[in-house]
Amino acid sequence: MFITFEGPDGSGKSTQIGLLSEYLRESGCDALVTREPGGTTIGERIRTILHDVKNTGMSSEAEILLYSASRAQLVAELIRPNLAAGKTILCDRFYDSTIAYQGYGRGLDLAMLQRITAFAVKHLKPDLTFLLDLDVEAGLLRRERGDVEINRMDLQARSFYERVRQGYHELAATEPERWVIVNANRPIEVVQADLRATVIERMRIF
Ligand code: TMP
Repeated sequence: MFITFEGPDGSGKSTQIGLLSEYLRESGCDALVTREPGGTTIGERIRTILHDVKNTGMSSEAEILLYSASRAQLVAELIRPNLAAGKTILCDRFYDSTIAYQGYGRGLDLAMLQRITAFAVKHLKPDLTFLLDLDVEAGLLRRERGDVEINRMDLQARSFYERVRQGYHELAATEPERWVIVNANRPIEVVQADLRATVIERMRIF
């Protein structure tokens, strides 16, 4: 089963993924955690370029191709072989981040992004996607408090994050059978309980 986690920085994705993977392993499920951009040696090198706050001159086209290159490597090297081996993959971001950030956020053509993405992942689709939803104000506050590492993508105007959030909600509305929206502005253990309940239910029917 392939599960992806989306949402703004500061929504607690990595904490929640860590807790969920521990729980799944304790329950006897072979769960593997990975992330985007990154997850492979090549992908982590691309991540360094993408996140470097010195790279403010990066064009939107270069940005989408770098995210897509990291994703293509991750799918080929790690996700497909491990899904074929029967593992459950928990991935911190996937192509929906590209549609939300580069599409809705930067305003790149959505149909073109979808074509690039389909090429990169060879039409692989998550079975379940969680949106850890947080209003823009709460997300910015968490970043200002220093709870999360600041990367190049954190240097955008507030309106950018508004568009990203709106984009996520539109994506979720288009594929309601794949997406589950979780209110991330609650205590860690409450959010975790929601994630576990959904995963248990989906695994039963998967
Ligand atoms: P994170 O790993 O801390 O979540 O940071 C990744 C950043 O990169 C985050 O700000 C979202 C952004 N991003 C995109 O803009 N497009 C993408 O396709 C992906 C995977 C991430």
